[in-house]
Amino acid sequence: MSKQEVRVFAPATVANVAVGYDILGFAIDRPGDEIVARFGADATKPFTITSITGTGDKQLPYEPEKNTAGVAALRLLEHLGETGQGIELEIHKKMPFGSGLGSSAASAAGAVVAINQLLGAPLNRESLLYFAVQGEEVADGSFHADNVAPSLVGGITLIRSNASLDIHQLPVPENLQVAVVHPEIEILTRDARAVLSDQVPLKTAVRQTGAIASFITALYTNDLPLLGRSLKDYIIEPQRKQLIKGFDEVKNAALERGALGCSISGAGPSVFAICDSGYLAQSVGQVMQDAFAKHGIESQLYVSPINQRGVEIL
Ligand code: HSE
Repeated sequence: MSKQEVRVFAPATVANVAVGYDILGFAIDRPGDEIVARFGADATKPFTITSITGTGDKQLPYEPEKNTAGVAALRLLEHLGETGQGIELEIHKKMPFGSGLGSSAASAAGAVVAINQLLGAPLNRESLLYFAVQGEEVADGSFHADNVAPSLVGGITLIRSNASLDIHQLPVPENLQVAVVHPEIEILTRDARAVLSDQVPLKTAVRQTGAIASFITALYTNDLPLLGRSLKDYIIEPQRKQLIKGFDEVKNAALERGALGCSISGAGPSVFAICDSGYLAQSVGQVMQDAFAKHGIESQLYVSPINQRGVEIL
């Protein structure tokens, strides 16, 4: 019997973007997760996760209430009053978790888009955000949309308020290209959040406010030199960089090769560099990989423009 199903691709994301801890993120073209939603053969069954692939020697829970995509799906189905239709979900991980690439967020964003589409698209993308963020909350215990929002809607996303999910898409300068290097170190977001002090000295807050304000100005005015001068993290990077062996050398290598800016992607360990051409981003990515290799750390490089599509229905 043929089953009606929807398959989607949900892109990886770079959260924080140096200047905006928990309030800024952008999507990249790859890697990303694939999620499949379908009506199962038995319409009386509750929602189930039927397959999880691509997790290597790790395991993700099949119990929907313990799985980020599962929770996102359940909350959406409850909202729509559709819990008893025998809907099945497949999760195909195409990126490592604990990588700083927004892996759990991508699965949650993909799950809500796939299920919404399967049910005839009753909600728009922005309305799906709340359910996907609830899913991601399972992974790190905090409610923030800086990975989920850009994965869901694409582009560079500013979150005025995580509590009310007041999100805004920012302009994307034409030639921006990103090199993201994922070193083979695993950092759980929960742990990377635990190392952060909850106090910020006033002088540091002033510098950081200047940096994010000028970063946003640079996006609106297409001023890449200003963007480069603005991409500075005075608060989070100094506290987290010791979790990433070789970080200073990697960052210096990127900046010396000509990147506009370089910092930790999300909670790390991935490191991103923003460049003004694809050719440069490739070259910057290679020197970053070389710098990790000098510390005996293997890595993967992804070069991509900013992904402006978000979750795609395949
Ligand atoms: N803003 C989050 C953090 C992103 O840095 O902890 C990772 O989920």
